[in-house]
Amino acid sequence: MKAIVLRELGSVDNLKLEEVPDPQPGPGEVVVRLHAAALNHRDVFIVQKLYPNIKLPAILGSDGAGVVSAVGEGVSAELLGQEVVVNPSLEWGDDERTQGPKYRILGMPEEGTFAEFIKVPAENVNPKPAHLSFAEAAALPLAGLTAYRAVVTRAQVKTGETVLVTGIGGGVATFALQIAKALGARVFVTSGSDEKLARAQSLGADGGVNYKTADWGKQLVALTGGGPDVVIDSAGGDALETSARILKQAGRIVFYGATTGLAKNLDLYRLFFKQATLMGSTMGSPREFAALLDLYAKEQIHPVVDQVFPLAEAAAAHRHMEEAGQCGKIVLQIA
Ligand SMILES: NC(=O)c1ccc[n+]([C@@H]2O[C@H](COP(=O)([O-])OP(=O)(O)OC[C@H]3O[C@@H](n4cnc5c(N)ncnc54)[C@H](OP(=O)(O)O)[C@@H]3O)[C@@H](O)[C@H]2O)c1
Repeated sequence: MKAIVLRELGSVDNLKLEEVPDPQPGPGEVVVRLHAAALNHRDVFIVQKLYPNIKLPAILGSDGAGVVSAVGEGVSAELLGQEVVVNPSLEWGDDERTQGPKYRILGMPEEGTFAEFIKVPAENVNPKPAHLSFAEAAALPLAGLTAYRAVVTRAQVKTGETVLVTGIGGGVATFALQIAKALGARVFVTSGSDEKLARAQSLGADGGVNYKTADWGKQLVALTGGGPDVVIDSAGGDALETSARILKQAGRIVFYGATTGLAKNLDLYRLFFKQATLMGSTMGSPREFAALLDLYAKEQIHPVVDQVFPLAEAAAAHRHMEEAGQCGKIVLQIA
């Protein structure tokens, strides 16, 4: 099969299309012929050597959708030919509250989805929601699951609450916006780009401010009428510090990344006085993945796809993410 192979770190130009052996399903596994895959910031961090335990050569990619083309011993042949979405959370474990010791994310160390075929445990494929194209379905898994856990399981956003999603151009952030809107919240966003703020409003955001302006926190307090009940953040740094400052009494902050670094000036005095809750979050369990797919099917929501690149142009797709050029998910078309 053809796959994008990474043999050397440091530059997205090292992501090269190569011929590699087809994966064979072992007991309990399936092989999926991929129609589309999608990028996550994790893939860029790996190329930039900013990720732990990297093993080379590697086929990156955590997100994919396609058709089951082979099944291993002990797997029902009824799966053959089914259109599926791949769940990149491998071996979450038995505890809904947290991932277990064997937990891994597809696409490092296991071979990932930037390839014509992928081998995964049979329990890691779910039926593709019928209203989604393969490109949209491939956009959903890692970022959608992260947003679902952050907004639904951790923040427990309720109808009528005010939610702030920072850095709305981000893949996870666009899902957080869609999910919080589906729950009936008022959703405000930040971005470093006025075009992305306008795009977010066309996707249902109730308003937004540019985090490159000095007083963006004050602007948000005015815009929301008193600050957010809930903040969903992955930027860290100033985004988290300012969000904590403008959070309402008894507010919740869920963070699932720290793209811009540590929040060294987080005002702890203010946080305890506000009775605030600060929660870390990651991807999620198989139950949450199924619930995410159900929500998108029930509400007929379409993931926000920024741009689709052919598999062979994976390097250009990664460069687009490195430059934060996207609003939504960057997809690779395979079949
Ligand atoms: N814990 C987990 O399981 C998990 C899962 C998924 C992602 N993550 C982490 O979450 C982060 C985002 O991932 P992603 O795949 O969604 O990345 P992405 O699509 O590349 O999005 C990154 C976004 O961060 C925003 N940003 C940059 N500087 C900012 C600032 N100063 N204030 C606010 N926003 C800022 C930008 O938004 P604008 O373009 O709008 O300016 C950018 O589009 C990464 O750190 C990733 O590793 C963690």
